[in-house]
Amino acid sequence: MNACRVVLSVNGSVCEVEADPATPLIYVLRNELGLVGAKLGCGLEQCGACAVMADGGKVLSCVRAVSEFEGRALTTVEGLAGGGDLNPVQRAFLETGAAQCGYCTSGLVVALTAYLEAAERPDRRGAVEALEGHLCRCGAHADVLRAVERLVAEAADGG
Ligand code: FES
Ligand code: FES
Repeated sequence: MNACRVVLSVNGSVCEVEADPATPLIYVLRNELGLVGAKLGCGLEQCGACAVMADGGKVLSCVRAVSEFEGRALTTVEGLAGGGDLNPVQRAFLETGAAQCGYCTSGLVVALTAYLEAAERPDRRGAVEALEGHLCRCGAHADVLRAVERLVAEAADGG
């Protein structure tokens, strides 16, 4: 291992860690920064469990090197709740019970948050497309779709 200083911006804070710059981002988030919301599933960019946001867009964190993310604004699921208030996606998942074991949930929440923040007029189809590539081994899809429908309705109401 070739450790050196890596500087990241995560959830609005600047963090310095000693790490091999080639280390996949998720290991730094989880093991060095204690941000364990993003989960390591496949480790092959195939399941979506490790999703976080970089400059507002969804990225998978299980393969790409931490050094690629220096100078970018990273947001993990922990950073979505402002001042202790859940963001609309977190609230919709909670209130519709859109999770079973929860392993996939932070990836889904991050993906939907990135979609809703970017979309001019969010709709069900766009939200479902934003979840493509996110696997749920528990089969919570029907509940997740209920959360999606609530979010799209809220967006249409200006909520
Ligand atoms: S752990 Fe990254 S996509 Fe599966
Ligand atoms: S709720 Fe268990 S993997 Fe999705």
